[in-house]
This record gives sequence, structure tokens and C-alpha cells, in this order.
Amino acid sequence: MPPVATLASQLESIGQSKLAIYLQGATGSGAQLLLDEISKFNLEQVATYIKQYGSQFVASPPDETISPAPYFALNDTSWDRALYQSKGEELIKAGKVACFTVAGGQGSRLGFNGPKGCYPTSCVNNKSLFEMFAQTIYANQRKYSTTIPWYIMTSPLNHEQTQSFFKEHNHFGLDPDNIMFFQQGVMPSFDKETGDLLLSDPAHLATNPDGHGGAYKALHVSGALEDMQSRGIEQLSYFQVDNPNAKIIDPVFIGLHAFSPESSAEFSSKMVAKASWNEKVGVFCRVGDHLAVVEYSDLPEELAQMTNEQGELMFNAGSIAIHTISVKFIDQIATDPKYALPFHRAVKKVPYFDTQTGQHVDPSEPNAIKLEQFVFDAMSLADNSIVLETDRVEEFAPVKNATGTDSIITSKQLQSQRAANWLIARGVSIPTNPDGSVNATIELSPITALCPEDLDSEQLPDAIKPGSSITL
Ligand code: UTP
Repeated sequence: MPPVATLASQLESIGQSKLAIYLQGATGSGAQLLLDEISKFNLEQVATYIKQYGSQFVASPPDETISPAPYFALNDTSWDRALYQSKGEELIKAGKVACFTVAGGQGSRLGFNGPKGCYPTSCVNNKSLFEMFAQTIYANQRKYSTTIPWYIMTSPLNHEQTQSFFKEHNHFGLDPDNIMFFQQGVMPSFDKETGDLLLSDPAHLATNPDGHGGAYKALHVSGALEDMQSRGIEQLSYFQVDNPNAKIIDPVFIGLHAFSPESSAEFSSKMVAKASWNEKVGVFCRVGDHLAVVEYSDLPEELAQMTNEQGELMFNAGSIAIHTISVKFIDQIATDPKYALPFHRAVKKVPYFDTQTGQHVDPSEPNAIKLEQFVFDAMSLADNSIVLETDRVEEFAPVKNATGTDSIITSKQLQSQRAANWLIARGVSIPTNPDGSVNATIELSPITALCPEDLDSEQLPDAIKPGSSITL
């Protein structure tokens, strides 16, 4: 730990004199906490980020070579789905596949007081997202007679709460030795004009989790990557904590990713057809020689609206943040500086402690820059990345907002709709509303079925009563 004077002079040398002066005058345990916290950062690197992403920031111009990404379409029969399914199943059975959930976000839009994974989400019994995923893992382990380790990335903001939640619920019946929690890193927030590092209170820097893209570094630093290597894990099924419909173990996708001649088996993704040209999802594109996710805000409007002869959107491959990523590729991204991921900047309101006046300031306008990395930026670093289309209801029911689009209400409707679709496929009659939506709330536990074929027609009712709420 460098003494105060050494750290203060380092801060001076990177242009953080206000913080240097404050640190030198600070006393007591708070001063020590702050000293410890600042020393954990590579200050030279922080200075480089402030220079690059601060008030002098220049956004890169849109790439001229952008075109729609090719993908394996849902109804395309030119590739052998059954073959890749069996290849994927072999990998799963051989214990070479693990699940990876990113759960370190702040969940600010949902406004839930706790980690988002603890949010009551299932449509009848209000099971938490974590419980739903745990049961899906349990059911897959049973189906394939295998072990599927589960890696969960948290952040300093929710790590303890997440672990306690699992302990309180006895890890939902999973073996705790096969669940590993690890924390992602944080980035310091800084003033958007001056580049001054901000304090959240007299003893702490204002920081934010470094984005889901922080996963690569965190997997390495935490020892999770080493754990995977020692268990012989080759592929990770990646999903976000807020999508209860994610098919978290999908043999077809895993098989296609690992064995298709078109894939380098490093980083593959799932897409759904966009609901409208301006839906706020990233879009899979070809940029130069590689595939990439272009954020909705970065896709020029004239491209986003472009249609083909059938009137379909040309740029229609919406990302649902489901990927298969190889352990080898993660190791490369995490350890080889030539694979360093960029940061994305967001200008946000960050309350702070003013070191000069000693006052807490609650800004009314965005005052600070937050930096995050994104998992999907690794896509363009893969030699050959592939994209697989899937059905929206089957795999995308995100819980992002408290109300409206992508809220708990829409998520529950989609969960119920998916259950209804599976029951219809097994001959059950489902009541509908005039608009075609399901007139019932149906919760289908993953323990009962992971796909329609798992449902035993003999055990199913002939029909569901209109307006009923049932669990199967
Ligand atoms: P979102 O981009 O939806 O962010 O994260 P969020 O933090 O959950 O919610 P808002 O924007 O504050 O309302 C997508 C996924 O990435 C994870 C989240 O936990 C979620 O599963 N994530 C996001 C991280 O793990 N770390 C981060 O730093 C950011």
C-alpha cells in the first residue's frame, strides 16, 4: 500500500490534484478506506480512459462496410438440425458445458430493492429468476445424466445478497460445489467536463460495475476460468439474469457453435426477428470482415428501416444476449492485450461528495461519465462467429422495466404463452382472448418439461379452463 504522499503525487501526475489535496488532508478510518480503494486502480490506465472518453471524446464514424449478418434461419431446412442436436448433447453429457449468468447489473430501471435474480418472476408461483434457472439446470442434469456447473457473476453492489439468497434457499437443490459466484470489477465515474474522479462519500470513490463485458477479466481474475479448465469445461452457455425464457442449455445451439464448419467455435449468438425497425435491441451485422452487434442507437436510421423485396427488414437480426462462448476464447480475451475490448461511455447523473465544499451534491442534470464494457464486443474478435435464429416467445421474455415494455407483466404473459404453445403441441385445448392471447395463466416448471416433447400427454388435461391459473 503506498503511503498517502506517494499516492497523492501519483494523483497529481495524472491531473487529479483536487483528489490529491483532499486525500492529504483526510484523517481517520475513512481516509484509510479511500487510500485502499484508490490504490486498487491502475491510475495511469484510469488517466488514459479519462482522456479518451472524457470531454474530448470523439465518437467513431459509422462503418461504411456495414451489411446484415447471415444467420441460420428458424425455418431453414438446408442444415441438419438433428445432427447438431446430437453433437451438442454429446458435449453436454461429457460434462464439457457450463452455464454462465451475468447478474452484476444495477437493475435501476426495474427499481427492485435487491439483486435482480431474486425478483419474483414466474407467472403463478412467483419463483425468483435464480430459482427458475436452478431448476432448469437441475432438470438438464437429470436429462443428460451429467453435471452442469453454474458460474454467476455478481458485482460489489449485490455479491453478498446474492450468495445469502442461495444459502437461504439451500441452493435450490443444486450442489453448492457446482455453483461459483464471483464479482466483476468496477470503474471510477468522473466529471464529464473536468475529468475529476468523483467520491460517493468522504471515504469512497463513486464507481459503477464495469459492464457485462467485465466478465472476461473477472472470470480470469476470480479463478473461475481456472476452475472451468480443471473440470474440463469447453463451452459456456451465456445468458442474462433477466430473461426467464432463455433456453439455458440448448444442444442444437451448442452443437452448431462447436461443430459447424462455418463456426470457429469461439463466440456464437442467438437472434430473434426484430419486432419493428425501431425496436431497442442490438442488431447482428457484418462489419468489415467480421460479425458484430451494432447497438440500436448506432445503426443509422436509413439502414434500420431498409426492407427487401418481400418488405422484410434487412437488418432484422435482433440480439437477445444469448451466446455460447468457448473457455479458450475467454482466456484469450482476458489475458492477451491485443484482444482488449473498448469501453462504452454513458453520461449519467452521479451524486457526489464535493471535496472542496464538504457538501453532498445531487445533480439535476447528467454530470458524470460512466464506462462499461460489453460482452458482445468480443464477437468481432472471433475468427468465424455464427448466429442462430430462434422464436421470440420461446426464448425472450426480459424483465427490464417496472411497467410497460419488457416489464414483469409482459414477461409473465410471454412465459404463459410459451407454456400454452407447448401444451397445444401436445394436444391440449387452450382458451384465448379475442386478440389471440392466452386466457389463462400457466406456469410450466422446468422440472416437468424442458421442451414440449418432455410433456406426457397421458398426464395432461384435455383443456385449460378460461381465466384459470395453473401450475404444471
Ligand atoms: P442491463 O443492460 O439490462 O442492465 O443488463 P441492468 O444493470 O441489469 O439494468 P438497468 O440498465 O440498470 O436497468 C443486462 C444484463 O447484464 C448484467 C445484468 O445483471 C443483466 O443480466 N450486467 C449488466 C452485469 O452483469 N454487469 C454490469 O455491469 C451490467
